[in-house]
Amino acid sequence: MEREHLIKICREVLSINQNGSHTMPAPDLYPHQWLWDSCFIAIGLRHYDIERAKDEIMSLLEGQWSNGMIPHMIFDPSLNYGTDRDIWRSFMSPYSPDNLSTSGITQPPIIAEAIKKVGSKLNKSDAIKFYKQVLPKLFNHHQWLMSERDPHGEGLTLQIHPWETGLDNNPVWMEQLSEHSKPWWIVAIEKLHLDGIVNVLRRDTRHVAPGQRISNVEALVMFDMIRRFRRKNYDIIKILHRSLFCIEDIGFNSILARNNKILIELAEMARVKIPKELLDMIHRQADALKKSWDKQDGNFYSKDFITGQPLQNLTISSLLPLYSGVISQDQAQRLVDQIKNYKIFGLRHPIPSVPVNNKDFDPMRYWQGPTWVNTNWLIIDGLKQYGFSEIADDIIKKTIELVEYHGPYEYFSPVDGQPLGAANFSWTAALTIDLLSQ
Ligand code: GLC
Repeated sequence: MEREHLIKICREVLSINQNGSHTMPAPDLYPHQWLWDSCFIAIGLRHYDIERAKDEIMSLLEGQWSNGMIPHMIFDPSLNYGTDRDIWRSFMSPYSPDNLSTSGITQPPIIAEAIKKVGSKLNKSDAIKFYKQVLPKLFNHHQWLMSERDPHGEGLTLQIHPWETGLDNNPVWMEQLSEHSKPWWIVAIEKLHLDGIVNVLRRDTRHVAPGQRISNVEALVMFDMIRRFRRKNYDIIKILHRSLFCIEDIGFNSILARNNKILIELAEMARVKIPKELLDMIHRQADALKKSWDKQDGNFYSKDFITGQPLQNLTISSLLPLYSGVISQDQAQRLVDQIKNYKIFGLRHPIPSVPVNNKDFDPMRYWQGPTWVNTNWLIIDGLKQYGFSEIADDIIKKTIELVEYHGPYEYFSPVDGQPLGAANFSWTAALTIDLLSQ
């Protein structure tokens, strides 16, 4: 297919999914605004509609809580969104905005990256104006992450819900959830095989085959966690009190480390001083990330916040330190070897979200095996940072091919390339435009 034709198809998707100042990830399945989706979308939009790219970011920042948190979802009030608002009840927190309804958890902090990429398409004085406008909010966001989410000041930030990582049913999280966060009533439902009832409440399985989504029991556990958070008014001290479940996610922290670096660059370009306390946190976070390397096994792993133990289960999150840019060349080489190895991540349509040798690998099921364009984009960026341009180009080519043959789907089978999840998915369209422009 001609490059221009593919770009046209992707732009059409972003135009259909536009909803005022933001873009829905996919209208039926995801009708609100999501944090990291909007960042990826802005990165694509900047190539042809810079004002819309800026709007995407500004509308995301409008959802920021007064404590600095940027929520992972901002609900669209024009939709019948009562159910979502009632599930979350974020108004229980004194920090949530008065004029908007949002979720009460966050998502990978990749806003600095989106801001820098959008700024690169503006002339110098407009870019500086834009950076100055957004930096105070961005400082608060990063400061919140590295204080509230690092209560012991150890460097890595903790995540309280799998949705915060953006990789919802990543096996590392699912295993911990099933061990520590399954209340008796869900165990009973599971034993009695009554979980089918949940289908009535699920929006996703109405649009996508259940074999491509999380299971009903997993959905219930995730919902139960939200109930617990809202009972505690989204107060992190209360949430952590007696919690058996909490993870310092390696993927989330890799994205933070890179965006911390970009934050410093943005502040330098705009000649805005970064608070000393924030700078210290940034260095501490990068140091802690470097130390997450498991010498024996030669991998980066997420850590159990409660026990301090590494969670040695290899998934795509363990490759995201490449994107962070803070790891050594030797460590990057080791990750590249695994990306190439056909017994691990080197499948025909790379890069699977879970390696083929993992017991939980399922090529059709959500973040449990399928290939996603956004994680490919992050890893491509990391490969380029470390000089692995040949493999980066190969992944770019194979990613574009998937979209070219099937359209901008949400995810694809790494085995046969079959399109899965939602059709006309915004970040796939936006990042394809970006990859075609590299
Ligand atoms: C799913 C994805 C998440 C994304 C959201 C909206 O929940 O796992 O990463 O942000 O959909 O597209």
